[in-house]
Amino acid sequence: MTSDIPETDPKEAAAAERNAISEALESRLMAIEAAARFHHVELDRDELRIPKGGAPSPAALVVWVRDGGLWCRAVRMRFSQLLKLEVSSPVILLLRDGSAAILTTVDPARNIIWVKDPRAASGDPPVAVDELRLSQVWGGETLLLRAEREVTDDNAPFTVGWVGQQVRRESVLMREVFIAAFAMSLLQLIPPIMVMTVLDRILTYQSLSTLALVSMFFGMALIYETILGYVRRKLTYIVGARVDARITLHVFKRLLRLPLDYFERQQAGVIIYRINQVNKIREFLTGKLLSTMLDSVSLIILIPVIFILEPTLAWVTLVLAGLVGVVIVAFLGPVSRAIGRWSASETAKSSVLVETLYGIRTVKSLALEPQQRDIWDRRTATSVQLKLEASEMANWPQTLVTPLEGVMGRGVVLFGAFLAIEVPGSIDPGLLIAFMMISGRVAQPLIGIAKIMEDLQEVRIAVGLVQSVINQPPESVNPNAGLRPRFEGTVEYNKVNYTYPGGKTRALDGVSFEVPAGTMLGLVGRSGSGKSTITRLLQGITRDYEGFVKLDGNDLREINLSHMRRAFGVVLQENFLFRGTVRENIIAGRPGLTLTDAVRAARLAGAEEFIERMPNGYETWIEEGSPNLSGGQRQRLAIARAVIHDPRLLILDEATSALDPESEALVNANLTRLGKGRTMVIVSHRLTSLTDCDQILVMDRGKVLDMAPHLVLVERCSVYRQLWLQQNRHLESAAARAGVAVPVLAQGA
Ligand SMILES: Nc1ncnc2c1ncn2[C@@H]1O[C@H](COP(=O)(O)OP(=O)(O)OP(=O)(O)O)[C@@H](O)[C@H]1O
Ligand SMILES: [Mg+2]
Repeated sequence: MTSDIPETDPKEAAAAERNAISEALESRLMAIEAAARFHHVELDRDELRIPKGGAPSPAALVVWVRDGGLWCRAVRMRFSQLLKLEVSSPVILLLRDGSAAILTTVDPARNIIWVKDPRAASGDPPVAVDELRLSQVWGGETLLLRAEREVTDDNAPFTVGWVGQQVRRESVLMREVFIAAFAMSLLQLIPPIMVMTVLDRILTYQSLSTLALVSMFFGMALIYETILGYVRRKLTYIVGARVDARITLHVFKRLLRLPLDYFERQQAGVIIYRINQVNKIREFLTGKLLSTMLDSVSLIILIPVIFILEPTLAWVTLVLAGLVGVVIVAFLGPVSRAIGRWSASETAKSSVLVETLYGIRTVKSLALEPQQRDIWDRRTATSVQLKLEASEMANWPQTLVTPLEGVMGRGVVLFGAFLAIEVPGSIDPGLLIAFMMISGRVAQPLIGIAKIMEDLQEVRIAVGLVQSVINQPPESVNPNAGLRPRFEGTVEYNKVNYTYPGGKTRALDGVSFEVPAGTMLGLVGRSGSGKSTITRLLQGITRDYEGFVKLDGNDLREINLSHMRRAFGVVLQENFLFRGTVRENIIAGRPGLTLTDAVRAARLAGAEEFIERMPNGYETWIEEGSPNLSGGQRQRLAIARAVIHDPRLLILDEATSALDPESEALVNANLTRLGKGRTMVIVSHRLTSLTDCDQILVMDRGKVLDMAPHLVLVERCSVYRQLWLQQNRHLESAAARAGVAVPVLAQGA
């Protein structure tokens, strides 16, 4: 009897403990899910990595929430800090026992907070807790989460205003830059005043003591000016680098969010050229614009000073500056039009370069070099011509401005001298020289401002080019929106119509079919019959179709795109391998995957054997475009990459078409294994690789002709039978020679 108790008790206790852990964990996950739902995000528990028998760390929870597209941080807080929170959305308190509570409101006046048990019914009111009670269950671990702040900024269209805003965000640094500039412009007054003193006082009265004093001033000013110059340049390049980083990050992020069909419609060369215009914008902002603005700061001091020194001459200087402005504004239009023409020709030129580089294999093997060079020559000639015209146009205002500048800087002296002679005693020689020195400094920023108008045209064109790419509607307006269901793998098309933009006929015409979860669907049909289009719709590449595509009964358009694509594997006819090792290419940066997973995936894809024969195995380096791999090897790596994360749905579009029979046989032999436990959609021209499919869908000119297993189709679908006969005539004749009837064909014929 007594021996029974120690036997049963620990077991029950252990079971109870396990239950307690999972129940606590359940409460924790429910709390986080509820908080995420508050921000309209459905988290997917599949994406949370829970260690065996344990509970996920707060860090893992943070990653989970962030993957869902929310801002999240785990922090340690005190009760007093909780009281200070502005609880505009739920805050999660991670309790010591592994569960969680949701903080809904705080009441600093009464020193209590209101919390809810995530397991409680949604109608239940929160309960009030004071510091003492909370400290018994809570050690301070808190999860803060909210909607990603950057989202609105991400969606902001790229405009001059937006760029300006990025500069304004550096206002603290900018203020310091401006203070430095202001101080420097004060120092600029010292040399002219010194010259004036030397000429008018020291030389006239031969005063050595004044000279000593002036020299001391001079020395101090020199030191200050050096330091301030250093500070100004340093702050300028810091601001420049930060603004630059922000713009570049934004542009790339936006670029990645564009839908695939945009990239298919646009030449890569054009996109690259336009995106690179960002550099021009940044250079202008942080280079010329900033330095001119800083120089202009000194006008605040210098203009009053020249008016104090000699009002008549000051007016002359200002009028000349106005004339410079008039000349430049008059030329703005023609110059900007000429630059626009040149810029367009540059776009055309760079697209030839990129196209040639992408297609260099074809260019070389078909000996197309002369033709490509010819196109390049012509485009270059046009571009050079337009560049000359643009420079010529821009040369005019510069030329006309030069004499005005000269007069502003030096000519005023002559006028001053004239005044001095006409009205004796009105102007001392020292003052005249000092005025000349200062008015030179006034002229510089004034002319700079006028010239900036000209550069601004160029920048406006650059902004326009960048806009034409990244202000396209993104694939999904809010990347965090949409359902994040757990996929089983049922696919349903219901009366789907689709016409490509600009297309005349429907690529898909009333397509309806259903694929149960875990089965294999083969897609066959003549070239252009719409097979790839079906798989594109399924991946959410094109979303403006009519009818419904459903995944496990959910409308595809309501599912979060990246969540969905993460659960898919896709292999196309041509697959791009990135620079990196074999292992890196198979894992493709997915979090939490290791070499073991890569080996498992490679085995599944039939790639294991050749990888192990490579000099460094999984660490073998692959160059961009993978020239050191055969087509079949590349394809098998691509398949391994597609299945490593165990996708619920695997799409193979002509994945084996480019393979030699041996590699194809290898992959085909693995198809059933590849398809185990997931839905597969296989497009193939070779019907022999589809005979194992549960269903084969026959497409013809965008319509579904028939759908059935192979044996049935051979019997009842004439198009399928024809294709099958075309490809397998040798079987028939071999069978005939051997005197054996091939039953399927005999029945079908
Ligand atoms: N990006 C596109 N823009 C415009 N029309 C397209 C585009 N892609 C395909 N089409 C058209 O849509 C139709 C179906 O094309 P789809 O690529 O689905 O055919 P497919 O059955 O996959 O052919 P194949 O066996 O040659 O790969 C074709 O008539 C084609 O001309
Ligand atoms: Mg296709």
